[in-house]
Amino acid sequence: MNDEIYPVPTSWAQEAKIDAARYAADYARSLSDSSGYWLEQAKTLNWITPPTLADESSFAEADFGVRWFADGVLNVSANCLDRHLATRGDQVAIIWEPDSPDAAPRHITYAELHADVCRLANVLKAQGVRKGDRVTLYLPMIPEAAVAMLACTRIGAIHSIVFGGFSPDALAGRITDCDSRIVITADEGRRGGKAVPLKANVDAAAELVTCLDAVIVVQVTGGDVPMKTGRDHYYADVMAAVSLDCPPEPMSAEDPLFLLYTSGSTGKPKGVVHTTAGYLLWASLTHNLVFDYRDGDIFWCAADVGWVTGHSYIVYGPLANGATTLMYEGVPNWPTPARIWEVVDKHKVNQIYLAPTALRALMREGDSFVMQTSRASLKLLGTVGEPINPEAWRWYHEVVGQGRCPIVDTWWQTETGGHMISPFPGATALKPGSATVPFFGVEPKLVDADGKILEGAAEGNLVITRSWPGQMRTVWGDHERFFQTYFSTYPGTYFTGDGCRRDGDGYYWITGRVDDVINVSGHRMGTAEVESALVLHRSVAEAAVVGFPHDIKGQGIYAYVTLNVGEEPTDELRQKLVKWVRMEIGPIATPDALQFTPGLPKTRSGKIMRRILRKIAEGDVSSLGDTSTLADPSVVDDLIANRVS
Ligand code: WT7
Repeated sequence: MNDEIYPVPTSWAQEAKIDAARYAADYARSLSDSSGYWLEQAKTLNWITPPTLADESSFAEADFGVRWFADGVLNVSANCLDRHLATRGDQVAIIWEPDSPDAAPRHITYAELHADVCRLANVLKAQGVRKGDRVTLYLPMIPEAAVAMLACTRIGAIHSIVFGGFSPDALAGRITDCDSRIVITADEGRRGGKAVPLKANVDAAAELVTCLDAVIVVQVTGGDVPMKTGRDHYYADVMAAVSLDCPPEPMSAEDPLFLLYTSGSTGKPKGVVHTTAGYLLWASLTHNLVFDYRDGDIFWCAADVGWVTGHSYIVYGPLANGATTLMYEGVPNWPTPARIWEVVDKHKVNQIYLAPTALRALMREGDSFVMQTSRASLKLLGTVGEPINPEAWRWYHEVVGQGRCPIVDTWWQTETGGHMISPFPGATALKPGSATVPFFGVEPKLVDADGKILEGAAEGNLVITRSWPGQMRTVWGDHERFFQTYFSTYPGTYFTGDGCRRDGDGYYWITGRVDDVINVSGHRMGTAEVESALVLHRSVAEAAVVGFPHDIKGQGIYAYVTLNVGEEPTDELRQKLVKWVRMEIGPIATPDALQFTPGLPKTRSGKIMRRILRKIAEGDVSSLGDTSTLADPSVVDDLIANRVS
């Protein structure tokens, strides 16, 4: 238990957009008068036809569906660009900080961004892309990523961003699943001084798909990449060939905006679908209120646009709010562990938003890298992606923020579109390690294994009992899977997959995933995905993968592998298999430990007892629990004896 409390600083209580009284009143109203509250919030968007309807969702099987503002019409790029032109056309929309500290940053104004988005939208049209078509983006952290996202929204195309760290195989699977004809990529990316072979990966992926007929290539490094005649086009060439004039396509509130693949407990990654109005409102409102964003502030979300965090808090939330958003091409600790704080000083960043894994890695390097910078511009610190350990929280607060800056520990998911449980910096006293209180309209509940709702201080599984505007609408191509995955476990509620404790003050403490999803450095990985990659290797008969506590990554990947008869369990093969998984999925899926075992602990009906595998991976072999239902209890002794530490 942790009783440490950090009260709201007086200046924040007096000046923040949301103070304690306002939070209490608005939260109550957001639940008791949901329509009134949300139709009022919806006025912060720019509509072609304003909605008269708010929430029409149902989590019940009979009339299941998620729907918000359904009679409204709007365009996302017009909300993020056109509406700002009259008042802030010359204001910087995107500050781009390159990988190398010696290269020149870019400052792109709203007017310039608007022009590029219109051009690229016309390029897409010229390539035959129409409203509702899917466009895959496989890009490094360059402003063209934001241009490409917004260009899609301008013509009503649905973007699917694939993180640049994913392998050709993973990319091909995602291109095929959504039947995307066109990919926008770069010759190479740059990260921490190394080149990432994006175009080469697209070429390899193209061999595995049948639907792809156009590739647009942004030149980043100028690396020599083969261009396939008729299919591949340089971005600069096609941009020069089109006009600047592209009126925004009127979109229904519920038209799909983007899809983003994410891992679940079973099967292939699923395409999470977000729609136009509800998502944009959620991203912009949470960005505005949770970060207490003020006109003129420089906001930095240090995520990659390949993840939902980058979608909502590098691009859509900030730009809808007319903010200046910083986009960083590189990694936190290159060339030195001072880089992040140097970038803060260089661009006078006011709010920074980081993952706990980055903080832990930087903390390990000692305080001197922080202390050599000023950080005087910082007003607020944010964290996201996994539970933050109180040590890292305190370091962030005291060393990075000099005790001045509130920390917003924001709990949310790819599925939720934006923040769900988070402090409001002017309203919520902080407790290190707690994501604290629900955002407006969010009704969290804790349930026990039987689905019984737990009241007061309790620990259980976290569910959300009513819809919110930013909620995902479906799984691409598989609406039934959407229902089964999230709404069938505890009927009538959205099941988050997270365990959670609520303390006596009503604060929420996320304890981590309770399903077969692991959270590696804030990135989500399905154990089933890593297992299928392993069994694809010709030496492997069977594999089981679990998470285990890891000092820096939060969770690491532990793989148990049974080899085919005749295969030798050598160190060389171990290294080969680790490399194989990297190749199959991408570096983020690299197993941290791989143990060969003659057998896996299975029940008589053949079900792998993962509980035992988790305990052994954790090194907690004294409390394996009941192993008597195992078909062959002796495998446990072998597993313990050959544990990899
Ligand atoms: C899972 C969602 C939200 C964008 C980045 C990750 C974990 C996320 C927190 C937090 C504790 C957190 C949960 C969640 N998580 N934020 N502040 N405290 N856990 O999105 O890849 O969809 O992963 O990340 O386990 O279910 P994602």
